[in-house]
Order: sequence, then C-alpha cells, then structure tokens
Amino acid sequence: MPLTRKAYRAAILHSIADPAVVGIEASYEYFEDGLLVTENGQISAIGHASELLASLPADIQITHYQDALITPGFIDTHIHLPQTGMVGAYGEQLLDWLNTYTFPCESQFADKAHAEEVAGIFIKELLRNGTTTALVFGSVHPQSVDSFFEAAEKLDLRMIAGKVMMDRNAPDYLTDTAESSYVESKALIERWHGKSRLHYAVTPRFAPTSTPEQLTLAGQLLSEYPDLYMQTHISENLQEVEWVKELFPERKGYLDVYDHYKLLGKRSVFAHGVHLCDDECARLAETGSAIAFCPTSNFFLGSGLFNLPMAEKHNLNVGLGTDVGGGTSFSLLQTLNEAYKVMQLQGARLSPFKSLYLATLGGARALRLEDKIGTLHPGTDADFLVLDYNATPLLSYRLKQANTIAETLFVLMTLGDDRTVLQTYAAGNLVHQR
Ligand code: GUN
Ligand code: ZN
Repeated sequence: MPLTRKAYRAAILHSIADPAVVGIEASYEYFEDGLLVTENGQISAIGHASELLASLPADIQITHYQDALITPGFIDTHIHLPQTGMVGAYGEQLLDWLNTYTFPCESQFADKAHAEEVAGIFIKELLRNGTTTALVFGSVHPQSVDSFFEAAEKLDLRMIAGKVMMDRNAPDYLTDTAESSYVESKALIERWHGKSRLHYAVTPRFAPTSTPEQLTLAGQLLSEYPDLYMQTHISENLQEVEWVKELFPERKGYLDVYDHYKLLGKRSVFAHGVHLCDDECARLAETGSAIAFCPTSNFFLGSGLFNLPMAEKHNLNVGLGTDVGGGTSFSLLQTLNEAYKVMQLQGARLSPFKSLYLATLGGARALRLEDKIGTLHPGTDADFLVLDYNATPLLSYRLKQANTIAETLFVLMTLGDDRTVLQTYAAGNLVHQR
C-alpha cells in the first residue's frame, strides 16, 4: 500500500496533561511555527517546522496555513442525536421540557428515513464545529443508532453511541420493555461495537425512566461484553433528584441507584452531576466513572452550576458535553465560553489551558481513549482541526491585540464558534472545509 504521508504547517497546540494536576506550564505543548505529519490515518510526527522539515522527503505534500492554529479534534462527551430538531425549545425546566418537547421530537425516529436524514445533518454539524468524537444518545429506536453509525462509518469517524433504554414514565409510543431493550441493544452491539472506529454505549436514559428490571439488564449487558460504554444522566435538576428518591426509597441516593445495578465503571459517563454531593464524587472517582460537564444545557434548562473544583478535588474524570438539544450549541468553543461563566459565578477561574484540556485530552480520558485521540502525539489518530484567526472581523482584530498563546486561546474560546473551524480532519482525511 502506498504511504499517504502529508504535512501541515501552522501554529500547533495540544494539551498533554491536566493543568489541575501538573500546573499550567507543564500541561501543554505549543509550536509557534509547527509541523504535523500524518501517515495512513495517524499522526507520525509533531514538532518545530525548522527541525522536522529536514527529516522529510523533498516531495512531501505540505499544507501551509497563515494565521491559524492546529489543535486536536474536539470531544463531546454528551449529546443527543434525536434532539437536533428541537434545540432552543422555550420555557421549561428538565421534566416538563422532556414531556413537552423532547419525547414528541424523538418519536419521529421510528421512521428510518427520518433517522437517516437527521443523522446526516447531525454529523455535518459535529464536523463543522470541530467535534471529531462524540458520545451520543440515540432515541429508543434501534434505527436511530444504525443510521448514525452508518453515516459515521462512511467518514471513518471515531464515535460512540447507544439506543435509549426507557420502559416507564414516558409515553407509550416511546417506551421499550426491559426484555426488548436488552435484545435490541445486544443486536446493535453485535453489529457495531468494535467495527471500524465505532463503539457501543449501553444507554439507560435516567433512573426515572427505567424499571429495576431494565437497569438489571443494562448491568448484565456491561458484564457480557468487554469495553462497552455506559451513558446516562444524573443529578441534573432538583425535582429530578427528589423524584429518584421517591422511586428508589431503598437506595441511599441517586448515584447509589446506578451503583446498585452495576452501572459504574471505567467506561461509564454520567451527564450533568450538578447536584452531586462529596461522597458521590468520591464514589464516581473510585470506580473510574466520568462526568460530562454540560454548561450551556445547565444554564438553558435552569439546572444549576456544576462544581468543577469539587470534581478536581476527587480527581474525577470530567469531559465536556454540549447536551444538544438541552444544550444550545454544537460548538465546544461556545460550550467553553459558558463553562468559564459557570466558574465565574462560583468565584473561581477556568484557565484557557484547562478549557483546552476539557475539550480534548480530558474528554479522551473520560472515554478511556487517550491512547487514540485527544492529543497530537505520534501514534494517535490523525483527528485534528485548523482554527482560523481571521474567521470574523472582530476575532481577527481582537487577536491582533493578543500577545501570548494563552490570550489567543482564551479569545478563541470566548468569540469562537463554528465559523472558527476552517477545516476538520478525521483519520487524516479532510471531513469538513468551511
Ligand atoms: N434526563 C433524561 N433525559 C434527558 C435528556 O434528554 N436531556 C437532558 N438534558 N436530561 C435528561
Ligand atoms: Zn442529555
């Protein structure tokens, strides 16, 4: 097979460790005039252009960008495919929002043609926003996941998804049964898990919409297959937390419900966690579970402020989630803009390097994929972005006043959005051009 070696020259930045653990300076690598070399879908070298160029063959194809920054692709650790058509639904908090808007919108995915149409729109939107890996909720219908994986596989994307399991406290037109959810999830696992760059996530929606029997079977699936993911919601809204106490009076609290059914673990990602207590954070950390921090959604649905410092204190893995359609943007740059404000409202700071970590390596660690994505280290997948310093007149003017990469990065995260993403590469292929 011919080598497909290519090189990209620009400023290059990637996160290599958690700033909360190693300090800011040791958390990143920055090459002001850098070179990234890819070969057969992977990164083969990264460094200063002046040093690397000499080692490359004279005829190698080099793409040179001015006023641009190469970063790893962004990782969205929580998003809902079937909510693409209901972003920005007015007026309700979580439980009424689900009944009023979400369930009717998700019901349309009974139709495979609709599922295929939305999967196409959804994947395009991910890529235009620079998201190269996402942990995705489908609807209760298996065809929502088939449609998504079919589209992702064509582009050789690294994606994780699962069919919602939901057998109570939802309209009849949108519920499965414990048994059917097990059988349908299993068929999807057999069809997709480990195929190309795709992975399956067992997906009980949240404790209130699953019977104990269904939660038991979700735990059983996790025990039957290696390296499966588990995704659900936890402690997002105070009414929801009270409801879980009523539904599971025998459990110590919300997390203990999931713990009891063996749903915690190294590939388990819990969305929101706004109202978790100290002990619950400790238990999540102890089991290697992760939290998806979803700031635009937590603001939009009036859910509350996620306590990132508490998670850091427990050394808990945290990734960033857009939570579209509770969240209001596919852009992880815009999500970081809101994350900064969440910290401000709690008297804390979110450094741009911590933000970069959350959107890339932190997300990869939450998904246990840090050997494959999240950095630009040689040997990892060539999933990367070219961010354009001149994306808008204001960005262009503002960045001319920036003197350091820290300032540039912070401004990109404050003013940036899909317009900032000039190109997105996945497995070395150009999958989005603005
Ligand atoms: N909790 C249960 N289902 C959902 C959902 O679809 N979105 C959000 N934000 N929270 C949920
Ligand atoms: Zn969600």
